[in-house]
Amino acid sequence: MTAGPARPQVSYMRVSITDRCNQRCVYCMPPEGVALKTHTAILSYEELARVIRCAVPLGVRSVRLTGGEPLVRRGIVDFAASVAAIPGVDDLALTTNGVLLADLARDLRRAGVRRVNVSLDSLRPDRYRRITRRDAFAAAWTGVEAALAAGLAPVKINTVVVRGLNDDEIEEMALAAAAGARLIWRFIELMPLGEARGFGPDALVTADEIVGRLAAAAARRGLALTEDTQGQEPLGAGPARYFRLGAGRIGVISPMTHGFCSTCNRLRLTSDGRVHPCLTSSLEIDLAGPLRAGASDAELTRLLAWAVSLKPEAHRMRERRPELAERRMSRIGG
Ligand code: 5AD
Ligand code: SF4
Repeated sequence: MTAGPARPQVSYMRVSITDRCNQRCVYCMPPEGVALKTHTAILSYEELARVIRCAVPLGVRSVRLTGGEPLVRRGIVDFAASVAAIPGVDDLALTTNGVLLADLARDLRRAGVRRVNVSLDSLRPDRYRRITRRDAFAAAWTGVEAALAAGLAPVKINTVVVRGLNDDEIEEMALAAAAGARLIWRFIELMPLGEARGFGPDALVTADEIVGRLAAAAARRGLALTEDTQGQEPLGAGPARYFRLGAGRIGVISPMTHGFCSTCNRLRLTSDGRVHPCLTSSLEIDLAGPLRAGASDAELTRLLAWAVSLKPEAHRMRERRPELAERRMSRIGG
């Protein structure tokens, strides 16, 4: 075995609390949805919290709750509070499609959630409906505003850019972010996961193309688009490059064209208790079995450490491997 470069410590865990979702985004799920895990396969909140606790000795400080759509699982506010109370967890965030956020933002903030990312792929209600197969643009946008009002600022909006579907909106979205400093708009390269495997390589709009187009749009309006290294997340903490545009901030996330695997510091836990060393590999380590068979905390920590040791040096997404079809975000939580 050759010694690779030293990996950063794992400090960040994404926890998918449900594989259910109230939307059916065309690049993620088929219209009829996908087979869901049974109720008993899904870890209870107590079990999820225990796994998170057992990850703290490995360096996990930052936890993000994801789904599916995390807000569809009942009891999320109390669960968030219990995660925020875990000694060693000092940052709790949430990724949501925003549809149920308006009613929950205040309680989530009070429970200890500090930041939310809202996935939103169009500013046009009819197009939003075509992409998500749900007529919920107004609800999602109200959710964004409620999050800001609740002090969950800045809110990051995540837009997956798909050529021919919504790439004509990136300039408008960036200008919406530029108009107010409270939103950070992030554009994400489409990955060939889930339904997006069927989209073909042309659907990918690279981060470089996105930046080029935003720079041109900015220049036309006499605005400068400047790379913001200050705003860069700590090395490995997040894969985004940030820019300043007017008063606002823009991010681009390039899983396809700028591999960041070697500095990736995250682990993913699915709602049925599997740890994924990497979003794109089919490697998974079952924790639910050992957990329910009476494993000790030390044993669970050892299994988590093993998962960390299996993180790959680089991903192979460009090979469009068939098994990526089943790796949809509704299960692994992005
Ligand atoms: N490529 C890139 N991003 C994706 N997401 C879901 N599927 C894909 C894909 N194939 C995004 C969602 C959300 C986040 C959790 O993952 O839109 O922003
Ligand atoms: Fe859309 Fe996210 Fe739900 Fe998939 S999990 S259908 S990307 S909202």
